[in-house]
Amino acid sequence: MSIHHDNTSRAPARQNADRWPADLAARPIVRRAEDDDELIGFHDLAVLAGVSDPNLLVRQLLTHSHDQILGASLDGTDPGRVIHALHNDGLPATVARRTMALAAVVDGQLVGGLVAGPSVQTLLQPAVQGRRDTLTAALLRTIEIQIVAVNAEHRHLGVGTALVRAAIDQARRANAHLVHGQFDTERTNLASFFRGCGFSVDLPTAGLDFATLADIDLQLTTTPEQRYFSLTF
Ligand SMILES: CC(C)(COP(=O)(O)OP(=O)(O)OC[C@H]1O[C@@H](n2cnc3c(N)ncnc32)[C@H](O)[C@@H]1OP(=O)(O)O)[C@@H](O)C(=O)NCCC(=O)NCCS
Repeated sequence: MSIHHDNTSRAPARQNADRWPADLAARPIVRRAEDDDELIGFHDLAVLAGVSDPNLLVRQLLTHSHDQILGASLDGTDPGRVIHALHNDGLPATVARRTMALAAVVDGQLVGGLVAGPSVQTLLQPAVQGRRDTLTAALLRTIEIQIVAVNAEHRHLGVGTALVRAAIDQARRANAHLVHGQFDTERTNLASFFRGCGFSVDLPTAGLDFATLADIDLQLTTTPEQRYFSLTF
């Protein structure tokens, strides 16, 4: 048996063992976050992931959800629509269209979550420099995993892996070419976690070259305190 996914997420959970305790009534479902209560629950997950302003994150998720743009351009996306949105609605709203908030739910309770989408920080550089082709390419081809977190009592059961695999599946359906992210070097277990999810994990000082990875004229630098991980398809 494995963790159950609904239609929005067909990523398999770990296949080598069934570690879900028999005394827990139900296994997690991994799917898009559905309502305000779930999105508000991302506050505590963001704290676990070390996000500097969890309140801002939740406010943005709620606003974009109410505006019905959160993840609106992730399935079968026509690039023309994204370019149109960029022109008419601006960068933050277009990024929101390419951003997913995935929930792992047990018995109606949020036990884990993931937020991934184009990195605003990365996109600012070409936006400010007026490099519109680079900006559009990064919007369409790259997805950054910004948060993945699981409640302490539900860890080591495959929930985190299921969330990340669901995000990779969604990124494929969105015709992205590169899924990437970074984590604190001191969180030593994360290198094996992300490798287990299929990513290459770079050395602490290595930057990320979007030109090599996704044919986009952008390079990200880093510090020894941060490590990048990436997956291309
Ligand atoms: C990182 C995090 C999301 C992982 O969540 P998780 O649900 O425990 O992840 P998984 O259960 O899928 O995998 C975790 C470990 O359990 C092991 N595991 C899980 N299911 C397994 C199975 N069926 N068989 C064998 N091993 C399994 C994995 O080997 C993995 O071990 P590793 O970390 O040594 O590689 C979680 O630890 C967390 O929330 N951390 C705090 C937030 C954070 O740091 N986020 C990352 C930066 S945004």
